[in-house]
Amino acid sequence: MKTLLEQMTLHEKIGQLMQLSPFFFLADLEKEAAGPIRELHLDEEKIYSAGSILGIGNAAEMIAVQSKYLERSRLKIPLLFMADVIHGYKTIFPVPLALAASWNPDTARRCARVSATEAATSGIHMTFSPMADLVRDPRWGRCVESFGESPLLSGRFAAAMVEGYQNGDLKRSDSVAACVKHFAGYGAAEGGRDYNTVDLSRQSLQSAYLEGYRQAVKAGCRGVMTAFNPIEGIPCTVNRYLLRDVLRTQWGFDGLTISDYDSLAETIAHGVAEDPSQAALMGLEAGLDIEMASSCYINHLEEHIRSGNLPLKLLDEAVLRVLTLKQDLGLFDNPNKGADALRESTTVQHPDHLRAAHEVAAECAVLLTNDGTLPLNPAVSVAILGPYALAVKTNGPWSWHGYHDENPSLAEVLTARGISPVFAKIAGCPEEYSDHDIDRIRKADVVLLALGEPENWSGEAHSRTDIGLPGRQAEFVPFVRSLGKKAIVLLQNGRPLVLEEILDASAILETWFLGSRASEAIADLLYGVTNPSGRLPMSFPRSVGQIPVYHDALPTGRPNHNENHPGEYVTKYLDAPNSPRFAFGHGLSYSRFEVRNLSLSASKIRKDDVLAVEVDVINHGPLAGDTVIQLYLGDPVARISRPVRQLVTFRKIHVAVNETLRVRFELDIHDLSYRLADGTLVCDPGRFNLWVGDSPDRLLSSAFVLE
Ligand code: BGC
Repeated sequence: MKTLLEQMTLHEKIGQLMQLSPFFFLADLEKEAAGPIRELHLDEEKIYSAGSILGIGNAAEMIAVQSKYLERSRLKIPLLFMADVIHGYKTIFPVPLALAASWNPDTARRCARVSATEAATSGIHMTFSPMADLVRDPRWGRCVESFGESPLLSGRFAAAMVEGYQNGDLKRSDSVAACVKHFAGYGAAEGGRDYNTVDLSRQSLQSAYLEGYRQAVKAGCRGVMTAFNPIEGIPCTVNRYLLRDVLRTQWGFDGLTISDYDSLAETIAHGVAEDPSQAALMGLEAGLDIEMASSCYINHLEEHIRSGNLPLKLLDEAVLRVLTLKQDLGLFDNPNKGADALRESTTVQHPDHLRAAHEVAAECAVLLTNDGTLPLNPAVSVAILGPYALAVKTNGPWSWHGYHDENPSLAEVLTARGISPVFAKIAGCPEEYSDHDIDRIRKADVVLLALGEPENWSGEAHSRTDIGLPGRQAEFVPFVRSLGKKAIVLLQNGRPLVLEEILDASAILETWFLGSRASEAIADLLYGVTNPSGRLPMSFPRSVGQIPVYHDALPTGRPNHNENHPGEYVTKYLDAPNSPRFAFGHGLSYSRFEVRNLSLSASKIRKDDVLAVEVDVINHGPLAGDTVIQLYLGDPVARISRPVRQLVTFRKIHVAVNETLRVRFELDIHDLSYRLADGTLVCDPGRFNLWVGDSPDRLLSSAFVLE
């Protein structure tokens, strides 16, 4: 690649750092593209020097753009095609927050593998996934794209997704490079308002917020996208501490960095750059390789290099990283790598992929409450009410290649299984049902209430201040009760919600947005074909006023030891307990699991020792099922305050009825360590508290000492 670099003109090099939409290559530049061209101060020569493309519809389009571009390219350097393949390409899997609710990173790896296989046939080379932003605020719309509140869970899921996409060899026709985003701390937007400022200490950043990206980088992801927000007052896109000190020096990352959409130009609105020229200077200096969507680099880097403002070496390093990725993907040998209209038509939504989507969806739902009404007996007659009674929009945000019209509704699935609902009709509140409707509803033994948020109420730019059920939906539960029926709530939503008004329901099944095969999975769960096994990856607060509420908070000087009888001068609210309504790690099963006989291999260990922690897990039935054994640690005395209790490892296991499994975890020094503000990993001797169990409200506890 170095030889190629030497042959490139300054203009050609800078072009490699520009990312444009395919529109510029598909549209008639003079007529349709005149507006955007003017706005971005581009011309045809600049457009045809672009190094990469953002978003592509299908193989035919990709091949057309690549060929047209290469015809004009002096050195025949192929375009790199990047896109947002977030939770599936055309076969849509559960949204990332739901995926994390599986507590099974192998499941995430499987989704990423299928997604890559499909996306690669359309000629996509790199996906802007995983999103590893840690989030403790459910008002933020993008928590739907995250793996939730735990640094450990975020790290494990981000790494698994990277492995699934890249598959160990980028040259394979079904591999796609991964680009982790949004580096860094985007999930900490103040007030949960998207694009808002972020103020994080380096301590929180290093010990919690960076962990997801760190693990993605460790897993070998080839790209890192910067975040819209600032860190320490400096927008991430031009933040040298993040892009050079952390990413390159501390983590040894040698892949490419890319801005978020327009985020280099937005440094002007942030008030740190005066104009696009200064933004360009700051970007390259800080370590930003590719500029997405805006045109600061293409219009201004040349003047900075020529005037000696910027060393050529910085430009060369950035360009080399782009060329190296192209080479590693095999694009110089085969610029259309993977793109094949015929293969695309037989690969996307392949029955095996849809089967995977079905199985994965069933693993991601979380049974929040159940008075024993679930699972249903197929002989019981059901009615389906609520705004999503006939829902097919189950894909969720960021699934722009997927279609809704191919998703069956729950009523269709039940009908196909010979258990057709006696009534299924959409309504925003009970008043919308006529007397005739109510007569029909009365014929049902059980009422399913399809409640929650519309599909576009979470995701980018979709934050909320009120995270209760929208509109008058809460009226459905008392309405059904007044008819003398049991109400089962099927919740769809992209964030933790405040559910106080519907706690009265007989059962609440959290179904998030489960993707292409959501309805099949929900039917399986309702009738016990699948035993629910999801666990919350994020706490559900009792009210917005409790936010942020998360499992691994630091201690205070005035702890609240007894929520029912708190003292006066302890940390508390006057009007609500401190604990969330549904805690991180919560999720019910149709089986009664018991965890007992906790044993530790030693009560004292040294730094090089491994501590074996074992428990028996018994499934008392009535169904076989999966459960998640969670292990938490507390480090009560350290050089800095440490979380009272933090998830450090977990395992999802399958247990047959009446079976007892001995589950063993091996903890080493890494599990006991934490990051200081400068990023170093340290561990302090002393006592550690330990908890193990399958539910946060039923944990066995013990302790040990690190000498
Ligand atoms: C989002 C990114 C996304 C990019 C490209 C931005 O608005 O913040 O997550 O990857 O657009 O589509």
